[in-house]
Amino acid sequence: MKVLVTGGAGYIGSITVEQLIQAGDEVVVFDNLYQGHRAAVHPAAAFVEGDLADRAAIDALMAAHRPEAIIHFASYTLVGESMQKPFLYLGDNIRNGLNLLESATAHGVHKFILSSTANLFDDPERMPIDEDERIVPGSPYGESKRILERILYWLDRTMGLRYACLRYFNASGASAERGEDHAPEAHLIPLVLQVALGQRADIAIFGDDYPTPDGSCVRDYVHVIDLAQAHILALRALDQGSRTYNLGNGQGFSVKEVIQVAREVTGHPIPARVVARRPGDPAVLVASSDKIRRELGWSPQYADLRSIVESAWQWHLAHPRGYAE
Ligand SMILES: NC(=O)c1ccc[n+]([C@@H]2O[C@H](COP(=O)([O-])OP(=O)(O)OC[C@H]3O[C@@H](n4cnc5c(N)ncnc54)[C@H](O)[C@@H]3O)[C@@H](O)[C@H]2O)c1
Repeated sequence: MKVLVTGGAGYIGSITVEQLIQAGDEVVVFDNLYQGHRAAVHPAAAFVEGDLADRAAIDALMAAHRPEAIIHFASYTLVGESMQKPFLYLGDNIRNGLNLLESATAHGVHKFILSSTANLFDDPERMPIDEDERIVPGSPYGESKRILERILYWLDRTMGLRYACLRYFNASGASAERGEDHAPEAHLIPLVLQVALGQRADIAIFGDDYPTPDGSCVRDYVHVIDLAQAHILALRALDQGSRTYNLGNGQGFSVKEVIQVAREVTGHPIPARVVARRPGDPAVLVASSDKIRRELGWSPQYADLRSIVESAWQWHLAHPRGYAE
């Protein structure tokens, strides 16, 4: 299948592109390189540098490349930043998504996968969190994904668009060739590994008085290759109808457990210091991915924390400055 991947120079996008190409799909990447890296784009993919704010650029790409499906990763992605700059998220993220969808439907593209988020579940009633959990976005970022999910629902009903919303919990790990390189970095595993590389003095633990076994927050880390495989399965299933899945590992790991595993994997002591809680951090966030396992046979290959950290460490060791080299 010919697939347009927006944000395909970013972390999850570039690894999904790699997996699509390995699966025999043809890929065109559209990315403005705001966070992405040209070097992260698989050489077998076509690359178009451009911004989703530019409707004419999207139309030109659709006309030139004629994709059959779209996977939409490109977005502002930071919960904390969205609390400071709500219009970037409630404005740009939604307008950019609409530009893409208007162009897609005008060019006859009726298959669409959205990167959605666990930030839809700020106040869960049940743990692990399944798809029937009530939606309470935790930030303008989460709200922007919620609104895009609703737009897709209506485009399915009115225009026959077939979509999948994939709500990732914490994407993590790396493939042999591609890994996580954000500036600023906001995710725990790369931050911990930066300490092991001597690029940071220590790692902050935001609160150790939560009602969890060791007092630190518990999160669900899902390997980025397993996430990429979920996109491929969802893409193949769109002919049977639209769908929404929560994507996690099903097991939670605490911040302290992640740090301890990183110490074992890297052989570095990784000093940690406990600081104040961050406002709005729930104690535990763990996904139920039973629905995608049942319906599409998705089965994570890297479910244990050690293999997730190990893969990230191998990539960071080979690329201590990320893609900058
Ligand atoms: N990383 C996670 O744990 C996580 C969790 C839940 C959801 N998500 C979602 O997954 C998607 C990918 O996340 P990521 O961590 O790979 O982020 P990323 O920042 O590495 O990738 C996003 C890519 O989109 C590009 N981009 C941003 N705005 C653009 C625009 N206007 N036009 C063209 N390109 C643009 C960036 O340059 C970047 O390459 C995002 O939509 C994010 O909200 C990520």
